[in-house]
Amino acid sequence: MGRLENKIAVITGAASGIGSATAQRFVEEGATIAALDLVTPEGEAWDSICATAPESDSFIVDVTKEPSIEEAVRAVITKYGRIDVLVNGAGVSSGGATEDITEEEWDRVMDINLKGSFFVAKHVVRQMIKQSSGSIVHIASIEGLDGLSGQLAYGTSKGAVVQMTRNMAADYATMGIRVNCVCPGAIETPMTAILNDESLKEIKTQMENAHLMERFGLPHEVANGILYLASDEASFVTGHPLVIDGGWVAGTRLKY
Ligand SMILES: NC(=O)c1ccc[n+]([C@@H]2O[C@H](COP(=O)([O-])OP(=O)(O)OC[C@H]3O[C@@H](n4cnc5c(N)ncnc54)[C@H](O)[C@@H]3O)[C@@H](O)[C@H]2O)c1
Repeated sequence: MGRLENKIAVITGAASGIGSATAQRFVEEGATIAALDLVTPEGEAWDSICATAPESDSFIVDVTKEPSIEEAVRAVITKYGRIDVLVNGAGVSSGGATEDITEEEWDRVMDINLKGSFFVAKHVVRQMIKQSSGSIVHIASIEGLDGLSGQLAYGTSKGAVVQMTRNMAADYATMGIRVNCVCPGAIETPMTAILNDESLKEIKTQMENAHLMERFGLPHEVANGILYLASDEASFVTGHPLVIDGGWVAGTRLKY
């Protein structure tokens, strides 16, 4: 018996990185996936998801567009009859200090990382209220807990996702709906692949060393934490930001 046996899981950002790894981990535990993304998931990872859980399907959605989300969530409910789990993984990175960030860039990051997560949660939770059950996991970041230079817009969006988690947990705790988030450290995904550029090697080394384990995490290491929060094993856990960061927020290791 899998840890998500017969559960229907909506995963945004499922075409890549952490979202894709989460979808793969979920089907290993018996879930069927409704993948919501700007692009259609493809390649080996998606093929293996569809081979393991053939009812899985993908829906093209821009999380910044509420009508597009409403339509996709309606299509998911029509197809599966319910939604047991939502993982809000769609997101974008952004760099820049306060004095340099344009209004357009600020809006882009807030619209995708924060408003998009809110829009999807809003439409999915309406179904979960009808069912009196469900588990929502937002993907925040350690940057939503700790400050990091040159990351104002991204860090602010993720700090708000952590707070959104707590507010939603308070709204739905007595309705059988749990709301948590994960706060990953730096993870090896297409989002951070730019740091492999020779010109950014020094920054990548500094970031690796900011984790006590002196490395980036891997997508499946985050997926395992999301799986725990999504599953009934976390039945008494709500409003919690689960830190998965190789020790970044724990502190600094001096080299004597
Ligand atoms: N990689 C990291 O180091 C790291 C660390 C902490 C948190 N996170 C967070 O984890 C989540 C996943 O990141 P990742 O590293 O897997 O990134 P990724 O770039 O590999 O995947 C992001 C996915 O989101 C989708 N997406 C982007 N904008 C969208 C939109 N408007 N509508 C629908 N889908 C959209 C993309 O198409 C892509 O499939 C993000 O929220 C990110 O902020 C990542």
